[in-house]
This record gives sequence, structure tokens and C-alpha cells, in this order.
Amino acid sequence: MQLPLAGLEAPVWFASASSADLNELPPETFLAEAECARSSEFKFGQPRENFTLGRLAGKLALAAAGETRRDIGATGPLTPTLSPSGGEGEDFALRLRSIEISNGERGEPVVRVGGWNPTALGVSLSHVNGLGVAVAFPAGARVGLDVELIDAKRAETVRKGVPLSGEEESWLKSTALPEATALLLLWTARESLGKALGTGLACKWESLALREIERGGEGVYSGSFLHQPQFRCISRIGAEAVMSLAFEIA
Ligand SMILES: CC(C)(COP(=O)(O)OP(=O)(O)OC[C@H]1O[C@@H](n2cnc3c(N)ncnc32)[C@H](O)[C@@H]1OP(=O)(O)O)[C@@H](O)C(=O)NCCC(=O)NCCS
Repeated sequence: MQLPLAGLEAPVWFASASSADLNELPPETFLAEAECARSSEFKFGQPRENFTLGRLAGKLALAAAGETRRDIGATGPLTPTLSPSGGEGEDFALRLRSIEISNGERGEPVVRVGGWNPTALGVSLSHVNGLGVAVAFPAGARVGLDVELIDAKRAETVRKGVPLSGEEESWLKSTALPEATALLLLWTARESLGKALGTGLACKWESLALREIERGGEGVYSGSFLHQPQFRCISRIGAEAVMSLAFEIA
């Protein structure tokens, strides 16, 4: 799905994957060799599945972006296998397999396609139990994505463990959202900024605080950040999960 984001010059491509998708597309058909090796290092099934769902969502987003990359004015090579014609079944799985998402020194996703290290596209991804989400974007754009399941215990951990800014506390008091959902919205917004900056959470958490959050429509919120005024975020609240996407405006 192609998403235009107000203030970002080029669109981004969003994709998600759920456990059920793995019945249609078994991991070994779309994971690159190095990804299979990494997946087999997980001792437990759920972390392995989460990793796999993140990779699947990432590849789907990259494949969609790759097919329309001319629209984004990309000049670097992406891959000869991601042709604009799309593909079905085995052919499509092969295309996904040619994309490898590894991790850089700080844990950030790094895209390689068929041994190339393409300069055209970047990806940000997030996974929770049973769900992987990803966004692909023109390399050089600073974009981060985070998803959390709406879960009272997780929200309590945020409440107890994360010092909130005055602005965030005021919003929490004034919003009509249930507190757990609101806390997780704040948290995903902060994490999405950390990913867009490339630090993840390996930074002072207060540097990720929000300045303002506005309701933009049913289940949609937009926000700005206290210390990173050039970034914005959009959050989406679903029945079971909340997701935030942070991006640097031009
Ligand atoms: C990055 C971080 C915010 C992830 O949050 P999370 O809620 O646990 O997990 P999510 O599923 O939402 O996101 C995980 C994905 O974020 C991405 N990511 C990790 N570090 C990142 C970074 N510094 N910048 C951007 N994206 C990053 C990865 O793609 C990762 O998935 P993958 O390992 O399967 O590739 C968090 O783990 C973190 O900041 N950790 C501290 C940084 C750290 O210690 N890094 C270790 C480097 S060795």
C-alpha cells in the first residue's frame, strides 16, 4: 500500500504480514539464505515467527516500492528480478527471496538485493506476536515504524518505566482514549522516532518525547516531537494494536 505522508516528498510503501500468511508462503520460500540461518538461531518458535513476519512484511513493502521505484526518482540499481510486471506464486516468492534484510551495527535494517547493496530503498520494520509491519521508503529519507499490541501489562510497564514529558502527561489527561491505548500510542511514537533516527532506544529516552498529539480522524492521530521538530508522526489505532510511523519532513 502506497501512503502519501504530508511533508514527506516521496510516498512510502506499507505492508503487513500475519501468522496466517505463513501458511500461504512458508518461510523457506521467501527467506534469503542468511535470513534462514538467522531464523534458525532462535530457540523458541514465537521469536522465530516474529522475525519471519518482520522479514515478510519488509520484503513485501520493498517489492511494492521496487516495482514503482521510477515514481520515486530512484537512480540506483535495485534488482533485475523486481520487474514492474509483478508476479505470482513461486516467481513472487523467488523475488522476495532475492531481497535480504540484515541489520547494521545499531540493529537498523539494511537492505541487500541479490548480493547488491542497493542505494535506492530503505525499510523500517516492527513485529509483535502474530504480526509484522514494515514501511519501505527512498533511501536517505528518515522513517521509522513501530507497532505494539494493546495490552494492559505492556501499558503499565510504560507508565512505570518511562518518564513522560509535561506535554505528554497533559495529553494523557485530556484524551478520550483509554489510558492503556494512549500510553502505547506515546510509546510507539517514541520508538518510531528512535528508529527513524537510527538509534532505536539506545539514546536518552526523553529526547524522543512528544510535544503535541492531535486527533486526525477515527483512530488516527498525528504528533510532533519536543526535541526533534523536523520530525512528525502518524499513529493508527486498530482493534488489537497501535502503530506509529515517524518521518522527517522536508
Ligand atoms: C530498536 C528497538 C527500538 C526495537 O524495538 P522492539 O519494540 O523491541 O522491536 P520491534 O519489533 O518494534 O523492532 C525491531 C526491529 O527494529 C529494527 N531496529 C533495531 N534497531 C534499530 C535501530 N537502531 N534503528 C532503526 N531500526 C532498528 C530492526 O529491524 C528490528 O527487527 P529485526 O531485528 O528483526 O531486524 C529496541 O530493540 C532498541 O532500541 N534496542 C536498543 C538498541 C540496541 O540495543 N541495539 C542493539 C544493537 S546490537
